[in-house]
Amino acid sequence: MCGIVGYIGDKDTKEILLRGLEKLEYRGYDSAGIAVLNDEGVHVFKEKGRIAALREIVDPASEGSIGIGHTRWATHGVPNRVNAHPHQSSTSRFTLVHNGVIENYEQLKREFLSGHEFISETDTEVIVQMIEKFTEEGLSVEEAFRKALQQLKGSYAIALLDKQDQDTIYVAKNKSPLLVGVGEDCNVVASDAMAMLQVTDQFLELMDKEMVIVTKESTTIKDLDGNVIARQPYTAEIDASDIEKGTYPHYMLKEIDEQPFVIRKIIQNYQDESGKLKLDESIRKAMKEADRLYIVASGTSYHAGLIGKQFIEKMAKIPVEVHIGSEFAYNMPLLSENPLFIFISQSGETADSRAVLVQIKKLGYKALTITNVPGSTLSREADFTLPLYAGPEIAVASTKAYTAQLAVLAILAVDVAQSKGITLEFNPLKELAIVANAMETMCDSKEEMTKIADEYLSAHRNSFFLGRGVDFYVCLEGALKLKEISYIQAEGFAGGELKHGPIALIETDTPVVALATQENVNLSIRGNVKEVVARGANPCIISMKGLEAEGDRFVIPAVHELLAPLVSVVPLQLISYYAALHRGCDVDKPRNLAKSVTVE
Ligand code: M6R
Repeated sequence: MCGIVGYIGDKDTKEILLRGLEKLEYRGYDSAGIAVLNDEGVHVFKEKGRIAALREIVDPASEGSIGIGHTRWATHGVPNRVNAHPHQSSTSRFTLVHNGVIENYEQLKREFLSGHEFISETDTEVIVQMIEKFTEEGLSVEEAFRKALQQLKGSYAIALLDKQDQDTIYVAKNKSPLLVGVGEDCNVVASDAMAMLQVTDQFLELMDKEMVIVTKESTTIKDLDGNVIARQPYTAEIDASDIEKGTYPHYMLKEIDEQPFVIRKIIQNYQDESGKLKLDESIRKAMKEADRLYIVASGTSYHAGLIGKQFIEKMAKIPVEVHIGSEFAYNMPLLSENPLFIFISQSGETADSRAVLVQIKKLGYKALTITNVPGSTLSREADFTLPLYAGPEIAVASTKAYTAQLAVLAILAVDVAQSKGITLEFNPLKELAIVANAMETMCDSKEEMTKIADEYLSAHRNSFFLGRGVDFYVCLEGALKLKEISYIQAEGFAGGELKHGPIALIETDTPVVALATQENVNLSIRGNVKEVVARGANPCIISMKGLEAEGDRFVIPAVHELLAPLVSVVPLQLISYYAALHRGCDVDKPRNLAKSVTVE
């Protein structure tokens, strides 16, 4: 979602801002802008669409040693140049970028800015106008900034420039991610460390309701009462080459191909020298003490949670409920006496899950976050974290993070089972190694996948994914993948549910992708396929070696049944990729979507 960058130092400010925004493109946006301040004033450039379009309108002569930039994912007001950030106060003294949603902006307009003319439809403009008003009433900029922040309800990450001060960027955060980077002879601001790795790998974490006064030489963190807070920077451990596409045409394809490597990295990181599972004792204890686990997540991470439930219930014998974050937040179910919450999130910034985390922390419950970004909000605010070790995932469509989530959930389930004294005929590290090899075979089958995509999907408007047991959950994920990047309507169904409604939609040639990787339901899912074929559907059965039957379109290598989802999802990822590619879609940055959904 919206991304923020800021720079103060002696290098080419506009270029650093533009490059920073390019690194934030993966988050999803529909307009972008930068502001550079120099002796002549503030130079603001904004454009609808891609950063490439913004680059074209930025005046190469607009030099300056301080500036801010923004990518906007529209919430209040359509994506156009007027609503794009930065926004300015009436006299243009203040220029501001904002990420988040100001819930009380209408009320603030009435209370502080009645009669004021607003240029944009955004909630953001109210902040910059309030700051100007408060300075006109006699407050210093810092006081006005703080007073404005105290009025805001909702989420924000903000960077502010004052035309009369070329030495300071004012920064603040609440619920939306924001970091301040500490460089040599410069300092930076960014929604995400990746944007400013070009300048520094030293970053200061910011907590909610903190503000920072950033100059070229200093970074002063304060609370909203003006008290100074001391904090040391941490080193962002991201390899800059991890965020490049290399020779790949798209990040999504690169990330699909990285999956065997990620699984091997997880195996490495979750075992000790003697080859035994290695998990923090405190996590084990919390898991064992819980009488019920509540997994909370969204989108692909939610789909991983559904399979995680199977792992944990089957192996560790602890009851698990899986909830969509946005539903749980407003409709909390009846909780057990001693619950433990597990948040699954690639980004660790998903606002829907964060809302739940805040609620359950208030109730005094413990939380474990499984995430790809250990310094993220969900990780920091939970009691425990299990990292995914998947490396930065840039494509909006989540692939390697999903399989990494499944691998970590399997390790967690086995570890807890073993520590409860449950004997399992299942060595997760050995089985995961087999999975990594099978994934490699799948990644080598791209030619076949591109054919399947064309044969079944590319020219169709809708499609179905059928499965039973864990195959059903993989089908939900396969359908999500296809719809989000190719815009083909895709629905995942449990095979047995067909007759209860969805079969009415089957027509001649309707593509139906069916998974058959589970022995106990192999015959039933094949029965379901016969039912749709009888009504004209074009079936594409993907089965697992050992369970295959005549006519199956693709057979994946055999792996332990429980871990089959880690492999069977790969062909679904690949056929989604090729279907989107063949339809001319922007695979890595699908329309309307954001990588990191930081507003509720
Ligand atoms: O960062 P998170 O895992 O919390 O994100 C949750 C969803 O927004 C995300 O999985 C989304 O569904 C993906 N675009 C799916 O590919």
